[in-house]
Formats: sequence, structure tokens, C-alpha cells
Amino acid sequence: MQFHKALLLGSAVILSGSLLVVPGSRAEEEKTMIRKEGVESRNEKWAEQFPLQYNSWKETRNSERIDDMLEKKPQLAILWAGYGFAKDYNAPRGHYYALQDNINTLRTGAPTGPVNGPMPTACWSCKSPDVPRMMEKEGELEFFTGKWAKYGHEISNSIGCADCHDSQTGDIAISRPFLERGLEASGVKLDEISRNDMRSLVCAQCHSEYYFKKTDWVDRDGNRKVAKVVTFPWDNGLTAENMEEYYDALQFKDWTHKISRAPMLKAQHPGYEIYKTGIHARRDVSCADCHMPGRVDNGQVFTDHTIQNPLDNIENTCLSCHDQSEEEFRIVVEQKLQRKEQLMQIAMDNLAKAHLEAGKAWELGATEEEMADILQDIRHGQWRWDYSIASHASFFHAPEETLRLLALANETAQTARIKLVKVLARYGDAAYIAPDFSSKEKAQALAGVPLAKLVAEKKQFKATLVKEWEKQAVKNGILNMDSRKGMSDRSSYSD
Ligand code: HEC
Ligand code: HEC
Ligand code: HEC
Ligand code: HEC
Repeated sequence: MQFHKALLLGSAVILSGSLLVVPGSRAEEEKTMIRKEGVESRNEKWAEQFPLQYNSWKETRNSERIDDMLEKKPQLAILWAGYGFAKDYNAPRGHYYALQDNINTLRTGAPTGPVNGPMPTACWSCKSPDVPRMMEKEGELEFFTGKWAKYGHEISNSIGCADCHDSQTGDIAISRPFLERGLEASGVKLDEISRNDMRSLVCAQCHSEYYFKKTDWVDRDGNRKVAKVVTFPWDNGLTAENMEEYYDALQFKDWTHKISRAPMLKAQHPGYEIYKTGIHARRDVSCADCHMPGRVDNGQVFTDHTIQNPLDNIENTCLSCHDQSEEEFRIVVEQKLQRKEQLMQIAMDNLAKAHLEAGKAWELGATEEEMADILQDIRHGQWRWDYSIASHASFFHAPEETLRLLALANETAQTARIKLVKVLARYGDAAYIAPDFSSKEKAQALAGVPLAKLVAEKKQFKATLVKEWEKQAVKNGILNMDSRKGMSDRSSYSD
């Protein structure tokens, strides 16, 4: 294992100031492999050899706050009307909660058995090291076939060691074949990936844009099946425009908008892609440099696995390369956030109004022909807005690119709205004003979200099927309930 290199490389880019840690002082010795074959998905098993990394990983449980984005930005429920995100959408929190949040979110519904979904198995893809375990066991196409409830009793450990480390060598490694395919499609040669690049690529496995590609296949027994394979749309490149072209050429849509009937794209979280356009990526500063700095515990030097907001640890993150004071850095980042917020707010209002005005135009009798290019504008405008902000900290990772895309989103939404005024005028309602969507309740009502019903079904699901899953996983030795001891159970709808 090349664990010794970790910190040396982590500090490869030093602008000024001194390093917090002295690599020579490390006590972390090379250890034997975790297991001879297969994926070790149980984080506690890794803890036996690597307690420091494990304990710091476990601290991601401290980031447990639920930030209900639909409360904060009610426009979202309009923008995503007819799609799962209008039901429930929270800001990200610690990796420790990824699995719980996948179960809790109203987006994944309330299955009552292994086949009634509603979402595909692909929903687990970025939540757990049991995913590479099952892919290895069953084959990737079988993994991507069926509904998510099929694997409820198998996917039991939240994002952890085997997501980023090889269970045989212990080295950092890509565990998701869909990232490898995406990289190859974009022209990257896998055998030329540097170790420093790997310090970002382990994150890119999940913090990237993807869609579910329908794939026909035949299993060993000759059964015809359809898989929904997680696929990165990187063939034309990694920018918003490159991906828009890719999706347009396929005439792909994630859903048809419930109000405007536009053929919509949902940007997932192109965090890696947008980071690549920023100055830090250009200077080879990796995700791990800011989110996994060096740390010392009892004289032992290791990589801090408490992946969190780097501003909670400025001294060991930013200030390992920069000279300025903590205070100055907070102000710089806050200003970047405010600039983004201002443009984002305008873009969201414009896009939401465009959807509602298009809905009114349909209601008045507008024709497909009159609406076609307006709906295309809405699709493209919303894609650019979503791409620019869906990865949350893009305003910091790549401020210029984020603001550029928000400006384009605004322009495109305004163009749609100008065209819509003409259509509305033609049908005698040029003065139409979109209804009020200034609260989550109002916006969800306009989007037709039956919140109370969804919550009741979810609670039932959690009290029954989820308990069965846990029991079975414990019985099969996949899950150790101690790993969840004291874990809170928060959601946007919990009391
Ligand atoms: C999100 C990805 C990710 C996860 C999850 C993760 N690691 Fe790491 N780990 C890294 C990265 C990145 C490094 C730095 C490697 C380098 O620079 O070469 C690292 C380094 C290490 C090292 C080398 C020694 C050191 O401290 O630098 C050990 C040991 C280790 N991790 C163990 C673990 C264990 C145990 C877990 C689970 C509890 C875990 N890791 C989970 C990404 C991850
Ligand atoms: C296996 C998929 C996966 C990998 C690998 C992964 N992440 Fe995440 N990450 C997620 C998911 C899912 C969430 C949201 C969890 C939630 O809200 O429950 C998340 C949340 C986060 C957060 C928010 C934490 C907080 O407390 O608010 C940060 C920061 C983050 N990831 C950074 C990284 C970095 C940096 C890497 C690589 C070193 C990485 N992630 C690797 C899936 C992943
Ligand atoms: C130069 C430092 C730096 C690098 C490099 C960096 N980040 Fe960040 N990241 C930050 C800062 C600072 C924030 C918090 C900004 C804020 O919200 O105040 C952040 C926030 C995040 C968040 C959102 C956390 C939340 O709760 O909203 C995610 C996810 C994330 N980063 C993932 C990544 C990934 C993935 C990479 C690499 C592709 C990466 N970061 C590279 C500094 C960095
Ligand atoms: C591993 C080293 C490293 C770390 C860690 C790091 N930076 Fe940087 N930062 C750089 C480099 C290199 C540049 C580019 C300098 C140049 O080329 O002019 C840069 C540029 C910047 C800039 C100017 C460009 C812009 O986007 O406005 C800001 C601001 C900045 N960093 C903030 C931060 C913050 C905040 C953190 C912590 C979350 C951080 N950096 C962490 C190396 C680092």
C-alpha cells in the first residue's frame, strides 16, 4: 500500500505558509490487505486496521442538519413539477447519512415489496460500498435491472471505505465502472490517470452528472431484460453545452413538465465537471486537498476522512496553501455566494414564471406548433440554471462558470417569456400574471404534490419493509446495527 504518499501528494501545491503536518512523523505503517477477494463493504471491518481513518470518517455523522431547500427556495417545486424533486429536496449532509436519506426522501416513494419500486436500482448507485459489492457479485447489468427495493436488504452500509479504496490493495481506486466508461468516452486514458487526479476522481464517481440509459440485455438463462444503467453524458465534453448537445441529439428527457409540458432535463450534480473549469482544478488542487486535509492525532499523521465544508476547518484546508486570515477567507467566500444568489434568484423566478405562463397558454388553446420552440427555450434555460447550481458549492469551485451559466439561463428564460407574451396576447390574455409561488405550500399545490399522502406512505414503509430489510441484512452478516447506534433519523417531514 502506498499510504505514505498520501500526505506528500496532498500538499503538492503550496503557495505559502507552512504545512500543518510533518510527513516523517507518521506512525501509520503498511498493513495487510483487507480481504483476499471481493469487496469489503462493512466499514467496521476496515476500522480494525485503520482506526484513525475510520474514526474521522465516522465524524461525518456530525453534519446531520436537514436543510429543506423547497422551504428556502419555493420556486424549486414549480421548476420540478411532475418530477420527484418537487416532493422533497434537502441540501447535502454528511456521507454517514447518504443511505438513510435515500430511504427517507419522498422521491424514492414507499415500496411494499421488491418489485414495486417506484424508482430503479440505480438510485442506490452513489450511496454505499455495497453497490460495488453487488455489482461484482451479480454483474453490472443485473445490478441495474429492476426496482430499488430489490436490493433493500443488501445495500446496508453508508458511503465508506470500499467506495474509494480497493479491498485487496487498500489503495484509492475507482469502484464504479460508469465513471471509467465516462472518462474513456471523454478521451481520458485510464492507465494514464495520476495519483493526484485520483484524489478527485474518487469523488467524481458520485459528484457528477448522469442519466439512466435504457439497455436491453439477455441474462445467463436466456431471459430478456432491460437495465437502467447509470451513464455519464461526457462523449462531447464536460461543459453544460457539451452535455446539452449530447442529450438533445438523443432527444432524451428526464420528464415532461407537469405545467409547461416542456421536455425537461434534470441536472444531477455535475460537481466534478464544474470544478474542472475553476482555477483550483487548473492548478491541480484536488477535491481531497480541501475536503480531506492532513490531521494529527496523538502524534500520528493521517488523512482526515471527515469530509465536510472546508470552511469548518479553514486552518488545515485553505490556510495550508494560502496566507490570508481566516476572517478574510470567510468574507471572500461569502461574497462569492451572494453574487451567485442574486443571479440565481432571478433565473429561478424567470424560469418558474415561464412554466406557469406556458401552462396558461396551453389552457387558452395554444397549439403544439406555437409552443415548440418556447418549450425548447425552457428546457435549455433550466438545464443551464440547474447545471450551474445543482452541485451546491459551484459558486466557490468555479465562480466564473457558475455566473456565466446563470446569465445564460436568465437570457433563455426571458426569451421564452417574451415569446409567451405574444402567444398569450393572441389568445386574449396578454396581462396574465403567474400565481403566487412564494411558499413551499403554495408552490407544491401548484405543482400538484400530495404531500400528506406521500408522508403517510413513507412512514408506513419505514415501519414495515425497511425493518425487514434491516433484519435480513443483519442475519446475512452484511449489517452491524452497532454502526448505527445513536444515529438520528431526520427528514424534511419528521416532527
Ligand atoms: C470519499 C473517498 C474516501 C472514503 C469514503 C475513504 N477514503 Fe481513505 N482515502 C481517500 C483519499 C483521497 C486518501 C488519500 C490518498 C492519497 O492521497 O494517495 C485516503 C487515504 C487513506 C489511507 C492512507 C493513510 C492516510 O491517512 O492518508 C487509509 C489507511 C485510508 N484512507 C483508510 C480509509 C478507511 C478505513 C475508510 C473507511 C472508514 C476510508 N479510507 C474511506 C479517500 C477515501
Ligand atoms: C459513493 C458516492 C460518493 C462518493 C464516492 C463521494 N461522495 Fe460526497 N456525497 C455523496 C452523497 C450521496 C452526499 C449527500 C449525502 C446526504 O445528504 O445524505 C454527499 C455529500 C457530500 C458533501 C456534503 C457534506 C456535508 O456535511 O454537508 C461533501 C462536502 C462531499 N460529499 C464531498 C465529497 C468529496 C470531496 C468526495 C471525494 C473525496 C466525495 N464526496 C465522495 C456521495 C458521494
Ligand atoms: C479549493 C478548495 C476546494 C476544492 C478543490 C474542492 N472544494 Fe468542495 N467545497 C469547498 C468549499 C470552501 C465549500 C463550501 C462552500 C460553502 O458552501 O460555503 C465546498 C463545498 C462542497 C460541497 C457542498 C457541501 C454542502 O453541504 O453544500 C460539495 C458536495 C463539494 N464541495 C464537493 C467537492 C468535490 C466533489 C470536489 C472535487 C471535484 C471539490 N469539492 C473540490 C472547497 C473546495
Ligand atoms: C492545495 C493548495 C490550495 C488549497 C488547499 C486552497 N487553495 Fe485556493 N488557490 C490555490 C491556487 C494554486 C490558486 C491559484 C493561484 C493563481 O494561480 O493565481 C488558488 C486561488 C484561490 C483564490 C483566487 C481565485 C478565485 O477563485 O477567486 C481564492 C479566492 C482561493 N484560492 C480560496 C481558497 C479557499 C477559500 C480555500 C479553502 C477552502 C482554498 N483556496 C484552498 C491553492 C489552494
